[in-house]
Amino acid sequence: MVQPQVYVDLTSPLNLVEGLHITPMFKDDLDAVVELEQQNAVAPWRLRSFELALNAKHCNWVICSEAELIGFICASQVLDELHILNLSVAQTHRGQGLATAMIKHLCTIHQDVPIRMIFLEVRESNKPAQKLYRKLGFKLDGVRKGYYQCARGIREDALLMSREF
Ligand SMILES: CC(C)(COP(=O)(O)OP(=O)(O)OC[C@H]1O[C@@H](n2cnc3c(N)ncnc32)[C@H](O)[C@@H]1OP(=O)(O)O)[C@@H](O)C(=O)NCCC(=O)NCCS
Repeated sequence: MVQPQVYVDLTSPLNLVEGLHITPMFKDDLDAVVELEQQNAVAPWRLRSFELALNAKHCNWVICSEAELIGFICASQVLDELHILNLSVAQTHRGQGLATAMIKHLCTIHQDVPIRMIFLEVRESNKPAQKLYRKLGFKLDGVRKGYYQCARGIREDALLMSREF
């Protein structure tokens, strides 16, 4: 018999490993955020994009180990819907549940307005991120052709994924 898939409960309280902290992203974080973005993204956001995200009062969070910034997440919230715009974890700290922790944090922080849906776009070639989202219960909604820029003017499709609660 096929067992129903059990996904990570994104709304249960977040228990972070001791020494790790998730805090709002501030202007002072942006040098470290941009450096991490440069190391991790195929077409990195520039400083201006992060400044706009801060000015727009999006849901922007960083995760730090002691004083070292090791990840960030940027999302916009409209009522009970979250749109994940950017997410990154330092290569040295991957595979430890940090991306999962940041997404969980997004889902639990605004208890006054419980989140009903999260959606995002992910590069067709970004299999690790797709695996992360599938593990968290996201499903594929469709494909946006040529959404992303790649090297040498080539474009890449975006997979549109969402999770409802
Ligand atoms: C994608 C990314 C954010 C994942 O961060 P992470 O902190 O390592 O993710 P987690 O530890 O929370 O992983 C949770 C699950 O995701 C999947 N996953 C994450 N990285 C994976 C990898 N390299 N290969 C396969 N599966 C992976 C696994 O199912 C994993 O669960 P498991 O550890 O029990 O196998 C990180 O690799 C990254 O920053 N990549 C570059 C930027 C990027 O692609 N951002 C997403 C843009 S849409």
